Amino acid sequence: MLTTIIYRSHLDDEVPVSIIPGMVEKASLLNARHQVTGILLFNGTHFFQLLEGPEEGVLDIYARICADRRHHNVVELMRDYSPSRRFGNHGMELFDLRHHDSVSVLQAVLNRGTSKYRLTYDDRGLQFLRTFVEAREKENYFEVLPTDYWNFVPDDNTSPAPATGVTFRPVVDPLAREVTALEALPEEAPEGLYGEAVYKHNLATVTAVLNKAGRSCPDDIMLYVSILPMTLVVLPDAVDRIVNAIESAELVPQQIILGVSETEVISQLEAFSQAVRRLKLAGISLSIDNFGDGSAGLSLLAHVQPDRVRIGAGIVRNIQRSGPRQAVVHAVLRCCSALEINVIAADIEQPEEWMWLEAAGVTDFQGALFTASGASVAWPETREAI
Ligand SMILES: Cc1cc2nc3c(=O)[nH]c(=O)nc-3n(C[C@H](O)[C@H](O)[C@H](O)COP(=O)(O)O)c2cc1C
Repeated sequence: MLTTIIYRSHLDDEVPVSIIPGMVEKASLLNARHQVTGILLFNGTHFFQLLEGPEEGVLDIYARICADRRHHNVVELMRDYSPSRRFGNHGMELFDLRHHDSVSVLQAVLNRGTSKYRLTYDDRGLQFLRTFVEAREKENYFEVLPTDYWNFVPDDNTSPAPATGVTFRPVVDPLAREVTALEALPEEAPEGLYGEAVYKHNLATVTAVLNKAGRSCPDDIMLYVSILPMTLVVLPDAVDRIVNAIESAELVPQQIILGVSETEVISQLEAFSQAVRRLKLAGISLSIDNFGDGSAGLSLLAHVQPDRVRIGAGIVRNIQRSGPRQAVVHAVLRCCSALEINVIAADIEQPEEWMWLEAAGVTDFQGALFTASGASVAWPETREAI
């Protein structure tokens, strides 16, 4: 299976540029052994490489390249399949963009084409190449610091309210060192419930969690509670019961964010939109969670305009290494910014995921990275500061 991988990376600051020709010579030999061909561009700071060949060979070479400490911030831009090679003659050819203008480099690259059909910029691989040569995406090359730059230091003062029978998960702004909301986690539904019983149980747990959380949640903090979207549709009195629970817990509706997951089926969009209108009229905010992981897509924002969206593991995991995920997050952020919708990034596990998302403009986070034992928050500190 003829596979193409394209990535971009950053030459390590400590590595002299003079090593590159020798490295390319060695790479060419190894590539030839794996029947891998391609080209490598270097602009003085960044590399751009297109590798093509049998899947096994390309994956093997790419794994070695990712582990190579002479460069960092390796972002995979494309992984695709094609019927023929674009650059069949070269184990690896280097184009140094510092010595040529972009038009002549692009022409030289096209001249190297070995595909049966003339290479054209209809091809995605070549579009990526042109974008790199013309430095059109450079503002999105976020330089993520190495993992060991940060230490995550527990802060006992942030431990959420004691023993109320509710588990809390904080939403944090790590750079401002602020807990911006608390998510109260309802119990899981027991097995063996079907149909309306599922939604009745769900509503009962949501109202119960509001009641319990109300006793310990400070009134200046937002309280986040997840609910099944169809609970709001199937049970006509759901919104009223939630409003009553908020009042009897001495919370204020403006403090409450109800989160519905986009991965849950929302089968009656009009009825759901009406329920959301009633929530909003009562002063309660709506969040669409796992945004981008479900089937509804961006068009959901045209039907219901939430106050927040929460993106999760499906999009954020290893985002620092994945061009497609970065593109999805850029699109979500642009869209949410136009609609003044706040974005929370959840399920964060690695410092690099957090740093990439901060650089992209996200400020609110959740995830194991920021949670110390005992559920208090762990704030990032640079190692030098400790
Ligand atoms: C920007 C860059 C591009 C590279 N391209 C290739 C390549 O196309 N083929 C290759 O075998 N090695 C390439 N290397 C070198 C590999 O990372 C690795 O050192 C080499 O494959 C030897 O593998 P090993 O370190 O596991 O022995 C590249 C390194 C860098 C920094």
